[in-house]
Amino acid sequence: MTRVAVIGAGPSGLAALRAFQSAAKKKAKIPEIVCFEKQDDWGGLWKYTWRTGLDEYGEPVHCSMYRYLWSNGPKEGLEFADYSFEEHFGKPIPSYPPRAVLWDYIVGRVKKAGVRKWIRFNSPVRMVTYDKKKKKFHVTAHDRPKDRMYTEEFDHVICASGHFSTPNTPFFEGLDSFNGRVLHAHDFRDALEFKGKDVLIVGRSYSAEDIGSQCWKYGAKSVTTTYRSKPMGFKWPKNFEERPLLQKVEGKTAYFKDGSTKEVDAIILCTGYQHYFPFLPEDLRLKTTNRLWPANLYKGVVWQDNPRFFYIGMQDQFYTFNMFDAQAWYVRDIILGRIKLPKPDAMKKDWKKWLKREEKLQDAEQMIWFQGDYVKDLIQATDYPTFDIEGVNKTFMEWEHHKMEDIMGFRNNAYRSLMTGTMSPKHHTPWKDALDDSMEAYLQTK
Ligand SMILES: Cc1cc2nc3c(=O)[nH]c(=O)nc-3n(C[C@H](O)[C@H](O)[C@H](O)COP(=O)(O)OP(=O)(O)OC[C@H]3O[C@@H](n4cnc5c(N)ncnc54)[C@H](O)[C@@H]3O)c2cc1C
Ligand SMILES: NC(=O)c1ccc[n+]([C@@H]2O[C@H](COP(=O)([O-])OP(=O)(O)OC[C@H]3O[C@@H](n4cnc5c(N)ncnc54)[C@H](OP(=O)(O)O)[C@@H]3O)[C@@H](O)[C@H]2O)c1
Repeated sequence: MTRVAVIGAGPSGLAALRAFQSAAKKKAKIPEIVCFEKQDDWGGLWKYTWRTGLDEYGEPVHCSMYRYLWSNGPKEGLEFADYSFEEHFGKPIPSYPPRAVLWDYIVGRVKKAGVRKWIRFNSPVRMVTYDKKKKKFHVTAHDRPKDRMYTEEFDHVICASGHFSTPNTPFFEGLDSFNGRVLHAHDFRDALEFKGKDVLIVGRSYSAEDIGSQCWKYGAKSVTTTYRSKPMGFKWPKNFEERPLLQKVEGKTAYFKDGSTKEVDAIILCTGYQHYFPFLPEDLRLKTTNRLWPANLYKGVVWQDNPRFFYIGMQDQFYTFNMFDAQAWYVRDIILGRIKLPKPDAMKKDWKKWLKREEKLQDAEQMIWFQGDYVKDLIQATDYPTFDIEGVNKTFMEWEHHKMEDIMGFRNNAYRSLMTGTMSPKHHTPWKDALDDSMEAYLQTK
């Protein structure tokens, strides 16, 4: 029997499990699926843990999420086409759910699909090798509770191990003698730690914006963000400002590129993440920056040099859950023999065309349409339910405008579901005043 290994039970890996299960439900003969998951439960980054550094077994903690995290984009952009929010919660819910609500939603679909039995938890993959002669992969995993390493043979491997977990941590002069706390966004857990403090955030992307906003919301005395390329440019509240790049710190004084200085109590490096696959050999390892079109992946998923090996979710993301689905259904259909791969040269020509187009993108709006086109391209090749991608793109445009209008208030807006057509209700409390991020608090109706 054909065997498929899936590495990771986050949204991307779970999309792969759901894709195979949905084919089986329609009476297709599917391979044996084994999903290896390093954590003790499913949901990937959405599974919150208080731990930082190493976990109870000495594994690097995967979680980069933190308390009070709410979705930074409207849920109408990430809704599964085969499992709506309305189906899961039994009613329409507001548009920017906190982490616990999204975790519940992700998990609800796969619980219904009954695929948990395919997952081996507490089982980090240590190495994958490929035997060219036998055309088989050898996957070595570590059963942590039993402390047992073992190797099994597979016909295909789907790597869905995520790429927002291993920090990119630049050095700034004086950090080693800074008289305050220095941490990377990956280890940020609770904004209350910074209440009453002057916080410096390095970076200008989503983590900088959101962790800065969290610290502001939960009572930081001031938030200063420092950018390398250009400012975020939002209309920040009065104790929140942007400065050119940090040059050095001396004691508690931060020095910026424009010659200005600021006394700070803590420095949070929101400087992004590395695509890091210590369990993959050179010939299977994706090497890329965080971008919309990583090279060497046909259709964004097929490894050019070994088309039995796939990646899901390795792109930078406007689209998330439904894009992982589109990718998972596509990969499934290649494995099931429903989609025939072109010759290597033609595959390369195809992904290079996308990569060239990506390099010309100028702004977030163009990037959203690009990723929308990619999702459309995948979906039309499989039986994943089609949905209104232009509608999703337009929702993202509205989101962008709402952020420019009011960065601390954009989450108070509501949007229409592109899957059910239902208008979402507004949340009962403005985001800046909603301090309780529990599912119970969020789902309450006043
Ligand atoms: C702070 C933060 C906030 C975010 N907020 C949003 C948001 O609001 N909305 C949104 O749509 N997206 C958000 N994202 C983007 C996020 O990348 C996706 O939502 C999603 O979690 C990606 O799913 P994934 O399965 O590809 O990766 P992950 O969620 O990272 O899951 C990967 C899984 O692989 C497992 N794994 C890794 N290595 C191994 C190994 N060697 N062996 C076995 N298992 C392994 C991990 O334990 C993990 O469970 C956020 C990301 C971050 C960092
Ligand atoms: N609430 C939420 O939902 C939420 C919260 C946080 C994060 N996220 C998600 O998490 C993912 C990762 O976002 P991210 O912001 O962590 O990573 P990212 O988007 O890859 O951005 C990395 C940032 O680090 C900066 N940087 C890197 N090296 C630097 C250096 N040497 N000096 C100064 N700046 C440096 C980059 O600057 P330049 O731009 O100048 O290159 C960029 O601003 C995204 O998908 C995001 O949506 C979501």
